[in-house]
Amino acid sequence: MIITISNQKGGVAKTTTSAALAAGLKLKGCNVLAIDLDPQGNLSDNVGADNREKPTVYELLKNQVSIQEVIQHTNQFDIIPSNIMLAGLEKEIISDLGKEQRLKEVLANVNYDYIIIDTPPALGLLTINAFTACDEVIIPTTAGIFSASGITQLYDTIRNVKKYCNDNIKINGILITKFNPRSNNNQDMKNLIKKLGEYINAPIYKTFIRNSVVIEESQTRMYLKTAKCTKI
Ligand SMILES: Nc1ncnc2c1ncn2[C@@H]1O[C@H](COP(=O)(O)OP(=O)(O)OP(=O)(O)O)[C@@H](O)[C@H]1O
Ligand SMILES: [Mg+2]
Repeated sequence: MIITISNQKGGVAKTTTSAALAAGLKLKGCNVLAIDLDPQGNLSDNVGADNREKPTVYELLKNQVSIQEVIQHTNQFDIIPSNIMLAGLEKEIISDLGKEQRLKEVLANVNYDYIIIDTPPALGLLTINAFTACDEVIIPTTAGIFSASGITQLYDTIRNVKKYCNDNIKINGILITKFNPRSNNNQDMKNLIKKLGEYINAPIYKTFIRNSVVIEESQTRMYLKTAKCTKI
């Protein structure tokens, strides 16, 4: 099963959700590969993957290395890291035939119970590659008007991918993140997101993720542990 975590709005906890889902599935005994498809490389940093010396998803999607050469085994789960090089890929392959299928093609050569793809805050070619390769999409959103209002545009993109690139794709659900139950606005937005979910025929998870300082603190601790931070 290949799951893409996507919302073109920035900062809605796509990467945090990707890391937590991959780690949770691994804890359950599943064989898990995470793919960092965001040039920001936050998921790679989250697990302390080496995205400086070793090849990344950029070289993989350029067909310069095999998938076995880019997979790194961390103490949490396997990961294909990324770095800022990936930001240039779209321009480099824009006129290539089958540019939407690159990730799907390379994933045919691995065997995992779950592959979790973290995407950038954009609906460009990288995200289209993730949608083309996956079975299901999870949409994290904060209970804020801007991240929720982008969901219809995201839905249109998924519909187009379904039509042209991946007949199999479906939305697994919408996950409300960074939720503050004491905020009236968050409660109102939760109801609006429920209506939005009905409109696009996507379920809202009953479980929502509370806003908590612990998340940012633990990500900071993890980042500080990695060698790259000592170089700052
Ligand atoms: N439940 C939470 N409570 C509080 N802060 C959170 C929570 N989940 C994530 N964060 C914080 O919110 C910020 C954005 O999270 P994250 O990087 O996962 O979002 P993203 O959607 O991947 O962002 P981008 O669009 O830039 O890739 C981070 O600083 C993270 O620590
Ligand atoms: Mg991210």
